[in-house]
Amino acid sequence: MAKIVLIGFPGSGKTTVGKKLASRLSLPFFDTDSHFEDKYCISIPDFFQKYGETYFRICERAVLEELLNLETDSVIATGGGLPCYRDSLDLINEKSLSVYLKMSSSSLVTRLSSSHRVRPLIREMSLPELTNYVETTLISREIFYNRAQLIYKGENMVIADLVSALVSAGYKKRE
Ligand code: S3P
Repeated sequence: MAKIVLIGFPGSGKTTVGKKLASRLSLPFFDTDSHFEDKYCISIPDFFQKYGETYFRICERAVLEELLNLETDSVIATGGGLPCYRDSLDLINEKSLSVYLKMSSSSLVTRLSSSHRVRPLIREMSLPELTNYVETTLISREIFYNRAQLIYKGENMVIADLVSALVSAGYKKRE
């Protein structure tokens, strides 16, 4: 399998880990969120405000299909909700080696509360609201995340160890 797709909750480090992993494997890196913003020429917060979440899910699915259909091997980081809609996780599992970057809800709350990135679904939440959102949403999303082919703990992760785990899970770079 020559594509690697990282899935997980917002704040779990998919983009940072994805970039490092891609550089370690000498593969191109794609991020569905930034690809979305380039393709539709609008920021995700503005898109949510103008068109709403339902239409966002339709468009992010189109972005996923586009990236999975590229001929090139790659590392792809996905938006946190993306694998939880329609059959997107089945598609990811069919076309790539999927990795769930798993983090505890308390780590996620700590990271999200100190992040400067605007995330439309959690913007302007107080700490108790954010904690409640992360705990409840993580439970429903893990039904999907846990179907990844590799589940890897995101806290204190070492890229070389992730590469070894990927190889053990059957990852082979295409020659
Ligand atoms: C979302 C997560 C975001 C982005 C959008 C919706 C979600 O991506 O796709 O704001 O549903 O949790 P990150 O996981 O990169 O924050």
